[in-house]
Amino acid sequence: MKNYNIAVIAGDGIGPEVIAEAKKVLCAAAEIDGRFSFSFTDYPWGCEYYLKTGEMMPKDALKTLGEYDAILLGAVGYPGVPDHISLRDLLLEIRHGFDEYINLRPVKLLNGAPCPLAGVRPEDINMTFIRENSEGEYAGSGAWLYKDSPEEVVIQNGVFSRKGCERVIRYAYELAKKEGKTLTSVSKANALNYSMVFWDQIFAEVGREYPEVETHSLLVDAASMFMVKDPKRFQIVVTSNLFGDILTDLGAAIAGGMGLAAGANLNPEKKYPSMFEPIHGSAPDIAGQGVANPLASVWTAGQMLTFFGYPEWEERIVGAIERMLGEKKALTPDMGGSASTSECGDEMVRILAE
Ligand code: NAD
Ligand code: IPM
Ligand code: MN
Repeated sequence: MKNYNIAVIAGDGIGPEVIAEAKKVLCAAAEIDGRFSFSFTDYPWGCEYYLKTGEMMPKDALKTLGEYDAILLGAVGYPGVPDHISLRDLLLEIRHGFDEYINLRPVKLLNGAPCPLAGVRPEDINMTFIRENSEGEYAGSGAWLYKDSPEEVVIQNGVFSRKGCERVIRYAYELAKKEGKTLTSVSKANALNYSMVFWDQIFAEVGREYPEVETHSLLVDAASMFMVKDPKRFQIVVTSNLFGDILTDLGAAIAGGMGLAAGANLNPEKKYPSMFEPIHGSAPDIAGQGVANPLASVWTAGQMLTFFGYPEWEERIVGAIERMLGEKKALTPDMGGSASTSECGDEMVRILAE
């Protein structure tokens, strides 16, 4: 039997609440399946840790995490610690440090999930976002000059390397080819005359290796409009770090809400551990009440199982989410139910065990 060592950073706010359920489901899957097991090690890193120690995680955190097969993360960020510290020193540090250059985010409207769009059927919203996750607008390059003087200037550079663009675009082409789907690149070359012209050029260049893949190119403003007006035109989508961040929150909104939105930060070469975390944040507005929806984290755990080579488990988990949405017995308040976070997780385990 294969044992997987998982580092768990439950983090802040609703992070620990939803991660407890993801662990519960992973343990249940292991027990039912019999081919694999999990050993979890919890790390108490995050905003509380910062307030006690002055750092979000220890200096040798990446060395520690590097020993694991994967990282399971809840959410990071909480009022009291500036977001640019809490997120840059933990989440982005891990994504960059472990070269998790693919952020894979499914945007699928499951049967029974709430959708604010009129006249849309579940089969009309079925996209996979491939968000560049290692550089671009998030590279952290810039300067703050003449601070606190009238001449104050800030510079935030976007960093788009040939290697960085090619690898994420190639990953998306490979996925589109494998799944027989169309590929849409989202950029903004009409205004961003270096980075996005370069992106579009590389999208076309790499595309010559994939003549069988039908491609589309959209400007990000038009893409946001079409996601609402005509979502079925999107299948596989590849885009930059910031555009992918924004569009996948929009994706969550049209596909059931933040409580269902899963995501995976992948280092496809497996040189470093990949990190699995829902798209949502720490939700301070509902933290500590036991009402957070754990299904996004549970689906994220399903993505981890796919990454380990058990895609049938992600399918089972998504199937169980659809069943729960249909039965409406154990849904959290964001889905119109009255179940607690742990009741929702218990029901998932019950269904998987059937
Ligand atoms: P958020 O995603 O935490 O919350 C947005 C809204 O969605 C809130 O109304 C919240 O109650 C709701 N929501 C989110 N997840 C939910 C769930 N599982 N169940 C039910 N409702 C849910 O976004 P925010 O309020 O902009 O950010 C809060 C903090 O989280 C900030 O510090 C932000 O920087 C951080 N953040 C962290 C991550 C991460 O760690 N991956 C992601 C996004 C935001
Ligand atoms: C996400 C989050 C992060 C991001 C923040 C918290 C830095 O919004 O995972 O979508 O922008 O990538
Ligand atoms: Mn985001």
